[in-house]
Amino acid sequence: MSLQGKVVLVTGAAKRIGRTVALAFAAKGARLAVHYHTSVVDARRVVDAVKSISGAQADVFRANLAEARGPEKLADAVARRFGGIDILVNSASLYEKTPFALATPEDWDRHMAVNARAPFFLAQACAPYLRRSGEGIVINIADWSAHRPYADWGMYCASKAALLCVNKILARALAPEIRVNTVLPGPVLAAEGETEAHMKKMADATLLKRSGTPEAVARACLYLAQAADYSTGAELTVDGGRLIA
Ligand SMILES: NC(=O)c1ccc[n+]([C@@H]2O[C@H](COP(=O)([O-])OP(=O)(O)OC[C@H]3O[C@@H](n4cnc5c(N)ncnc54)[C@H](OP(=O)(O)O)[C@@H]3O)[C@@H](O)[C@H]2O)c1
Repeated sequence: MSLQGKVVLVTGAAKRIGRTVALAFAAKGARLAVHYHTSVVDARRVVDAVKSISGAQADVFRANLAEARGPEKLADAVARRFGGIDILVNSASLYEKTPFALATPEDWDRHMAVNARAPFFLAQACAPYLRRSGEGIVINIADWSAHRPYADWGMYCASKAALLCVNKILARALAPEIRVNTVLPGPVLAAEGETEAHMKKMADATLLKRSGTPEAVARACLYLAQAADYSTGAELTVDGGRLIA
């Protein structure tokens, strides 16, 4: 499928993996809705980069996806600006250490809201536009650790496991017009406060003995959008074999 002129909404697209995914779609000629929450300067830089890569239309959209109505407002704003939405990439995420004995109900709610509830309701709000597109696609970014959780990141892992269920629910609810699939990255980029030694340990625990790259995640998203035309409800690991190591 050609991505030329398609309207792609990428959440959490101002930085890091989301930014790379957005620019990969831009390189294929897509129009980009660059969602951010707090990183407005970086988001504007992504828009400038899209324009210099392809000259395609791009704009920034602010939304707090922890708010119940955040997803709906975001979808409406994007559809108003671009006249529709063809592809939704749910990349925005909350990743906080929540050791078992210290985790609170508020930690649980925050992670579930951003990592599972928002992708569900964003897909719901985008669904009319995705259907109208005729080639609508949803791509979720989960994590290999949704299948083999870390106890100290329990709230994050539980929310990503919920996202894997959301992936299946959406695939069923939106078929046959819209395909819905999920990428499960392994270790890619260190989070704030994570040391190089920690990342090396994570990389060494993979079968391929190295960290992944944002580009590898972006290529998986392009594959799901462009080539995987008989896949829906699928989980694509991009984890160096970490899940089976
Ligand atoms: N990094 C890795 O090694 C790795 C490994 C496995 C899976 N993943 C998954 O890959 C995806 C991208 O990873 P990443 O490390 O690039 O993500 P990240 O830096 O942890 O977060 C991406 C963006 O999410 C946005 N966000 C957080 N809370 C939000 C809220 N309440 N409302 C709206 N947006 C919010 C932030 O936007 P602002 O900056 O604008 O506030 C942030 O820049 C995530 O789904 C992550 O779980 C990453």
